[in-house]
Amino acid sequence: MALVSSSAFPLGVVLLLAAAATCNAAAKTACPSRTGYQVFPDMRYGTTSSVITFSSMSAAESACGSDTTCVSFNNLGETVHGTVITLTAAVGVCVYMKGVCPVKLRYTAYNHSAMKLYNEGDVNVGSTAAAVQTACNTNANCPGFSTPGSASSIGTFYAARGIITGLYFQYGQCTYLKDSLQSYSCPPKYGYSNMYHTRADSAGGDHGSSSGKLSGGAREAEMACKVNPKCTAWSTDGKVQIGGISKLETAQYGTCTYLKDPCPPMAGFTAYADFTDATTAYSFQNKTLCVADTYKRCLDDATCLGFDMMRKFWTSKPSPTTQLLGTCTYVRASGY
Ligand SMILES: *[C@@H]1O[C@H](CO)[C@@H](O)[C@H](O)[C@H]1NC(C)=O
Ligand SMILES: *[C@@H]1O[C@H](CO)[C@@H](O)[C@H](O)[C@H]1NC(C)=O
Repeated sequence: MALVSSSAFPLGVVLLLAAAATCNAAAKTACPSRTGYQVFPDMRYGTTSSVITFSSMSAAESACGSDTTCVSFNNLGETVHGTVITLTAAVGVCVYMKGVCPVKLRYTAYNHSAMKLYNEGDVNVGSTAAAVQTACNTNANCPGFSTPGSASSIGTFYAARGIITGLYFQYGQCTYLKDSLQSYSCPPKYGYSNMYHTRADSAGGDHGSSSGKLSGGAREAEMACKVNPKCTAWSTDGKVQIGGISKLETAQYGTCTYLKDPCPPMAGFTAYADFTDATTAYSFQNKTLCVADTYKRCLDDATCLGFDMMRKFWTSKPSPTTQLLGTCTYVRASGY
């Protein structure tokens, strides 16, 4: 298969589409991972049992790690003992929840997660984790199953018999997605917006846009997109998109499309796509730095609170509210 790429690819088209498709995700935080925890980016505690506030994230993290009654901490230096009942959206906040789901072969475990089904009646309800796992193993149309975590008394046991349309936060519940049936579960992928059960149409030859289907299917498409900076999306049917996408077709059950985030994730920072800060004075600019060095230059300097693609660095926290298509502004998240 031949993937045509061109230096004249229509940046504007891509970015406009990405912004339109993911407008509620225009600011996205790359929360660094922590062993033993599952991270919920851009979320904060809603309803919880008591919250304790520490002076720093590291103080909260070490206190939580050494206390079995602690179930979660966040980068604002807060810990929760007991239960986190709800999470609500909050840009720049990373919630770390202790993993409660035993690892199971041929499945990926999502902690504190339950699944939304296309058809809510498509379930086999069971009374043990083993029973629903067996039901899912033996059903070729079962993309996943859900059980309460070992240390939890809440939650229900069920195996899906059809399409999964999303995961949602549910304290104490574990969702296991079958690794071999990803086109029916659309698992989350780091650095991409998950367009659950969607097909992407290429802008077809327009200004260097193209799409190609790889024989290696989903796995090969994911890899090809990851290594190609001009890739804008890939799908579980093996398609890779270069340049503009003209249309996203929804309700395509059995195909998941992942749109690459317009700003590459930089761990510890919130990326604002298509926005800059035109008012806060920056401390310096070094146009000769490459992107990776720009990130490192800021990360390694505790006084640096943000940077952008023009290689400007801020020591006062930037507030990216001025639209500027094609740029990315990165704001350091608390605690990192
Ligand atoms: C869920 O927690 C387990 C540890 O109990 C961990 O191995 C796994 O990576 C976590 N899952 C995610 C998606 O972070
Ligand atoms: C800009 O960055 C380059 C590459 O790291 C470095 O050699 C140069 O000294 C920097 N210039 C200024 C003015 O800091």
